[in-house]
Amino acid sequence: MFDDFQFEKLNRLPNYIFAVINEIKMEERRAGKDVIDFSMGNPDGDTPQHIIDKLVETAQKKGNFRYSASKGIFKLRLAIADWYKRKYGVDIDPNGEAVATMGSKEGYVHLVEAITNVGDMAIVPEPTYPIHTYAFTLAGGAVRKMEIKFDSEFKLDEDTFISDLKTAIAESVPKPKYLILNFPHNPTTVTVTEDFYKRVVELAKKERFYIISDIAYADLTFDGYKTPSILAVDGAKDVAVESFTLSKSYNMAGWRVGFVVGNRKLVGALEKIKSWLDYGMFTPIQVAATVALNGDGSCVEDIRKNYEDRRDFLIKSFASAGWDVGKPRATMFIWARIPEKVRHLGSLEFSKRLLLEAEVAVSPGIGFGDYGDEYVRIALIENRHRIKQASKNIKKFLNSF
Ligand SMILES: Cc1ncc(COP(=O)(O)O)c(C=O)c1O
Repeated sequence: MFDDFQFEKLNRLPNYIFAVINEIKMEERRAGKDVIDFSMGNPDGDTPQHIIDKLVETAQKKGNFRYSASKGIFKLRLAIADWYKRKYGVDIDPNGEAVATMGSKEGYVHLVEAITNVGDMAIVPEPTYPIHTYAFTLAGGAVRKMEIKFDSEFKLDEDTFISDLKTAIAESVPKPKYLILNFPHNPTTVTVTEDFYKRVVELAKKERFYIISDIAYADLTFDGYKTPSILAVDGAKDVAVESFTLSKSYNMAGWRVGFVVGNRKLVGALEKIKSWLDYGMFTPIQVAATVALNGDGSCVEDIRKNYEDRRDFLIKSFASAGWDVGKPRATMFIWARIPEKVRHLGSLEFSKRLLLEAEVAVSPGIGFGDYGDEYVRIALIENRHRIKQASKNIKKFLNSF
């Protein structure tokens, strides 16, 4: 019935490429196969015990079961501000410059929903975490893509980025109002310097656009690299907001806690739309998140080290299987160029065959946009033993070509 009723907004979303891999993965598992799963950025570790303890303690207290504050309880917003001060020397006013969100994805989507007029243009570097693009599509905006170029150490080619950005701004009609940044980057792992942010902030002021910076992987850095914050640039708050999440740094992906800080106008827009849409996270989750952010960081260091160890082990093991992958300086991913002899398959076909023939699941690069098709993304969410098994299977698979 009512076949003429079209959900036009949903029609604008493409079929989810990762669903293809997921579907095969489920079929393989139902058939009793032991799939080694590197496909999702879904941390396999447990939340540190002191954070769980705080959740339980707070959930036991009477009076904590009412609707909470949609923008986050004051204590949590204060912890967010303190975290920024400690980590980046940035002053954040917990009243008006910080909003707690139900994971950073919720915050991002609703921020974009709140600030996008129909036809507004955003620049999104590609490949990309898909929602960075499709939040604008859903909100009625338009997106101009811009290829991310990087060197063999996955450092952004900053000069090229700035010059491509200038070209994109000059060529876009209407003029872009928003630029999305995400460094360390999902899926490419690409990192930037603080100087890069200085240049982008300067350009944003000159050309009049806002910057939304997503630093979900800020804590997962290796070999001495430290993630800079755009907000540490003088005057950045005039044009930028930044989001962070507890999902990765604290193994809290299922808890759904993140935040957005910075520019008052944008933070205010998010605060307003959220006040219409939700009643805030369950208070005990917010209290436990406060404890997480106020902690001494030792649990974050353990989580970071585990990814570093897996990164090094995987690179070595895969190399012995005939697949040389580059070494990222950050994130929980390897952005792996498909071995030359099978590159012609394209990332989707390669991923399908790897799954069916080697029982190894990865994310095809094409799922992150057109520029990703020579790559797959490997999430470091399997332990050493499983990585070793995967490399044995991959060796056999590659030798079959
Ligand atoms: C770049 C980036 N931003 C945001 C998120 C969303 O994280 P969450 O909604 O769990 O905070 C992810 C998750 O994978 C991500 O990769």
